[in-house]
Amino acid sequence: MNHRLDQMKPSASLVFMTRAKEMQKTDPSVISLAGGEPDFATPDRISMAAIRSLSEGYTHYVVGPGIPELRAGIAKKLREENGIICDEDRIMVTPGGKNAIYLVIHAILNDGDEAIILNPAWVSYEPIILAAGGVPVHAKLDYKTDYRITEEVLEKAVSDKTRLLIINYPNNPTGRILHEDEADILEKFLLRHPQVYLLSDEVYERIIYDGNRNVSMGARASVAERVITVNGFSKSVAMTGWRMGYLAANKEVFQGAYKLYQHSLSCMSGFMQKGAVEAFNCQREIEDMRSIYEMRRNMFTGILNSIPGVRCTLPEGAFYAWVYYDIKGMSSAEICEYLLENAGVVGMPGTAYGEESVACMRFSFANATEELEDAANRIKKAILALDK
Ligand SMILES: Cc1ncc(COP(=O)(O)O)c(C=O)c1O
Repeated sequence: MNHRLDQMKPSASLVFMTRAKEMQKTDPSVISLAGGEPDFATPDRISMAAIRSLSEGYTHYVVGPGIPELRAGIAKKLREENGIICDEDRIMVTPGGKNAIYLVIHAILNDGDEAIILNPAWVSYEPIILAAGGVPVHAKLDYKTDYRITEEVLEKAVSDKTRLLIINYPNNPTGRILHEDEADILEKFLLRHPQVYLLSDEVYERIIYDGNRNVSMGARASVAERVITVNGFSKSVAMTGWRMGYLAANKEVFQGAYKLYQHSLSCMSGFMQKGAVEAFNCQREIEDMRSIYEMRRNMFTGILNSIPGVRCTLPEGAFYAWVYYDIKGMSSAEICEYLLENAGVVGMPGTAYGEESVACMRFSFANATEELEDAANRIKKAILALDK
């Protein structure tokens, strides 16, 4: 067996989601807030376009890194919404943002090259770096400063072996967006270290609250050539099961990733790409979903913040509540287990994202509103019971 696989842990989110599913078989009242799955249906016009293409016989290999109309739609979206100028011929349609990240990391890293991950971080970056023969370097952001990016933390993590820095805003798990002043710090860092590529994972970029704006590093002209932007349709248009994502990269990275693509995927499904093209005509549906997430965020965090010993900052984007606990010295894992057993609510321990310095958990608020309210009240009741 490939010895690199020994170092890779199974995906913690999938482990908890599977566990919730098992529990629900014997106790259907168990609520899973462990995954990152919108409860909305994919907008009808997208599904109808795919069905139409399917019945028209659009069911064969589609040579190339994506159908022209989808790549053109992505290029336009990146230009108009994110300020990223990327020709269509450097845009690749991939099976989810996850696969785009996999291809980019494998295209860039050689054995022993270092890739910096900002912690807390999504669970898959580290295993993908390991699979590519790279060395993950965890730059720990500080919860006391609300996980602000600083020059010090980046400089401490970088070495002459660093080839990649991965960022993810809006962030899973913390819900933070990238602010202009932090983007300035990143830009200067990249200018100081010309051997480093930046992978910007923006899969939650359409889910932002309070009228805020996320900054896309690919829009910074001085470093744009070294920024690879990854995005997709899973989260923003409720298309998780379609496995539709994309990357925008410079020519060199694109060509490397495309070699891997050709020899692993061949191509994406044509009729599903035809469906995805319609996503660019779904601005109203996207906004409707976003505003419901905002309402759920306010309700969910409002209830949690009314519990003594529990603190939750208002997420600026994505659909996760990052919740701190100061309860009888309990650790992240202990609280997670306690809530599972006593509230029937499944969340993720902060340690799954590399946060070891404070007791915390991540809950998804992409579930139905009533279920979410029920979950928050059950969490409250279970924690209050600890004081009795
Ligand atoms: C931060 C982050 N990046 C990428 C992905 C991959 O999403 P998909 O492959 O469905 O586009 C996820 C999914 O949970 C995520 O949370």
